[in-house]
Amino acid sequence: MSGNATVRRRLGPALALALCMPPASAQAPVSLSRDVQPILDRYCVACHLYESPQGGLLLEAGDTHVATVDVPSTQAPLPRVAPGDPERSYLVHKLRGTQLQVGGSGAPMPFNADTGTSGLATDERRLIEAWIRAGAPDN
Ligand code: HEC
Repeated sequence: MSGNATVRRRLGPALALALCMPPASAQAPVSLSRDVQPILDRYCVACHLYESPQGGLLLEAGDTHVATVDVPSTQAPLPRVAPGDPERSYLVHKLRGTQLQVGGSGAPMPFNADTGTSGLATDERRLIEAWIRAGAPDN
């Protein structure tokens, strides 16, 4: 009996911790306006702006959702953003530099004529992917 109590005492904190940790789906949702748009503002809007959107793509605040979610890419047989599915989202492939492997074209994004490489940090890319995986809400 006392053995069981010891086990319970030992498991108690671990169990409490496990119960406190929400499943992935219950975590604070990634927000387009709060989390994703600032990344786009910093790396993308210089070219994907209202006046002359490069690649025909607008990524300014207020335009991003309607310009990407379920909108066909002009370069590849994929939507720019497929809600819930980063692997089918052409924008993600442009960030990863895998655009040619999915039938696309052009340079990795954010386009950098000097280096030819993407300047996005891995955690910033993961945040965009998390937003897409959560269904790409307009939030
Ligand atoms: C220096 C200018 C520049 C910057 C900065 C830039 N882009 Fe682009 N983007 C372009 C150009 C030019 C094209 C079309 C040619 C190409 O794809 O290489 C393009 C095309 C694209 C396309 C393809 C559009 C389609 O319909 O398939 C996506 C997606 C894209 N950019 C996303 C981004 C994202 C996301 C960022 C920021 C992380 C970004 N770009 C930053 C210039 C830029």
